[in-house]
Amino acid sequence: MRVPIFESAVCVYDFEHHARFDGKDDVDKIMHKLFNLPEVLNKENVDDAQGGRALSTAHLYQTHVIPELLNFKQSPLGQWILWRIYESAIELGFDKTRNVKKLKYYRTWANKMTEGCSAVAHRHAGKDWSIPHLVAIYYLDVPSESADLVFIDNHELDVMRGEPLDSYSKDKQHKIRSMSGRLVCHDARLLHATTKHNSMSARTCLIIEVGFPPL
Ligand SMILES: [Fe+2]
Repeated sequence: MRVPIFESAVCVYDFEHHARFDGKDDVDKIMHKLFNLPEVLNKENVDDAQGGRALSTAHLYQTHVIPELLNFKQSPLGQWILWRIYESAIELGFDKTRNVKKLKYYRTWANKMTEGCSAVAHRHAGKDWSIPHLVAIYYLDVPSESADLVFIDNHELDVMRGEPLDSYSKDKQHKIRSMSGRLVCHDARLLHATTKHNSMSARTCLIIEVGFPPL
């Protein structure tokens, strides 16, 4: 579903079979394995994370390609995500200049956020970047009082990393609730952050950056 945000829009979808789908146990096992890799456990928080402890496989994106590890082409979850990315690319207008049928993965990774953690404002692409075009976030485990995603009305496209969310006035913020099974697709240039994660249980999500060739 297309959700207007300031002069732009994002797409939000909910996977109705998230609680139980073929391959869910495999997804859980693979996630557990990823977040327990020594190279993940021993890596400090990514620059975008503040407070608490945030585990990420972002630095392993070349060797640990999430859609391959989770067998996106064959699995019900993966196929659902891929179709929604395609739909959102059209909803957000990328089909006017790009061949949205030919999706190319850029970086893909998994994040695990613990109590007290939040993400400072950031973009995934700046002005005139050739890739990525779109970012898809799929929420796996989202306990209550989890960090929510917040888009910020800001057009300084050369600023890749901004400030903590509180630095932006409320009327410049648009919150999208994070929920297990929710997919949010947004233009990679949109500035966004998260609220603070207030649950003692971890919040996990997948991040898939994609690009499309010109028409
Ligand atoms: Fe992000």
